[in-house]
Amino acid sequence: MATQAGAKEIKAVAVIGAGQMGSGIAQLAAAAGCGVLLLDSDPAALSRAVASISSSLRRLATKGQLSQSACEHSIERIKCVSSVQELRNVDLVIEAIVESEDIKKKLFVELDKITKPSAILASNTSSISVTRLASATNRPCQVIGVHFFNPPPIMKLIEIIRGSDTSEEVFATVKSFSERLGKTVICSQDYPGFIVNRILMPMINEAFWALYTGVATKEDIDTGMKLGTNHPMGPLQLADFIGLDVCLSVLRVLHNGLGDSKYSPCPLLVQYVDAGRLGKKRGQGVYSYGKRSSSIKPRSSL
Ligand code: 3HC
Repeated sequence: MATQAGAKEIKAVAVIGAGQMGSGIAQLAAAAGCGVLLLDSDPAALSRAVASISSSLRRLATKGQLSQSACEHSIERIKCVSSVQELRNVDLVIEAIVESEDIKKKLFVELDKITKPSAILASNTSSISVTRLASATNRPCQVIGVHFFNPPPIMKLIEIIRGSDTSEEVFATVKSFSERLGKTVICSQDYPGFIVNRILMPMINEAFWALYTGVATKEDIDTGMKLGTNHPMGPLQLADFIGLDVCLSVLRVLHNGLGDSKYSPCPLLVQYVDAGRLGKKRGQGVYSYGKRSSSIKPRSSL
């Protein structure tokens, strides 16, 4: 396969975090022919991820979008692991763990010690500074942001974020890898929220303000944006889909990082998160999704 000038070929990938984003990323990398190590300390999360990847790939095969043998080979290329120690030989690490700067930095320090010197360390962060994550390592020129969108197998975009020291070779390698996954790439400088969340999250926040101040019902706010602006989901439904905790955390990064009160999170969003109404993953957010799940606990670390 042709790669971009200056790009190195990625053969072995590690994905850290077997949640919805991590499993979607692992699926894409395996389907593109890479060997994938999927790392999570929670065996149940790994089992759920493998089941969901297998069913998603088999569905593609049933629909004729993937041959049966390509489907089975992709599944075989994914190996589940439970320790960072097993990532010594990968070319690229993509972390998709909890959106906490401290926890991500600790992981990057560990990855820097364990992975081979040429390995690229990438973060699927929604908004945290790539430059600050890179500064926790001794290889800041090999640290980069690679932001996938939910659900990764469906969404066509990858936003690549250059930290202040990211090298041209690393950028070219990750761009070429992203295109190999079938995605369109956009490139952002390392400023809070990058491109998409800088624009999306204020819209979601505004939808919460509209609900909070009684402008309209949640259904009418969502229907208005779906039918009035052709969005596949209304902003409140999308917030539930993303996770209200994730939306709140991105808004706080925007508010703190850009210092403008227009990014201040709506009190209703804060209250829902405080109440554990985190969205679809918890069975309740702005909307209710059947039985409220108490089995899915917030995951604070690997
Ligand atoms: N994995 C794989 N395939 C999936 C999937 C998943 N998680 N979810 C849906 N699909 C597939 C379905 O199988 C179906 O395929 P088919 O048409 O070939 O049968 C197709 O997607 C459409 O699914 P549905 O018919 O079930 O539902 P919809 O037509 O409503 O589509 C949706 C679902 C794709 C999620 C659509 O509603 C959508 O695009 N919503 C907006 C999503 C979005 O904006 N995501 C970005 C969020 S922001 C973000 O992630 C950034 C972060 O930093 C916060």
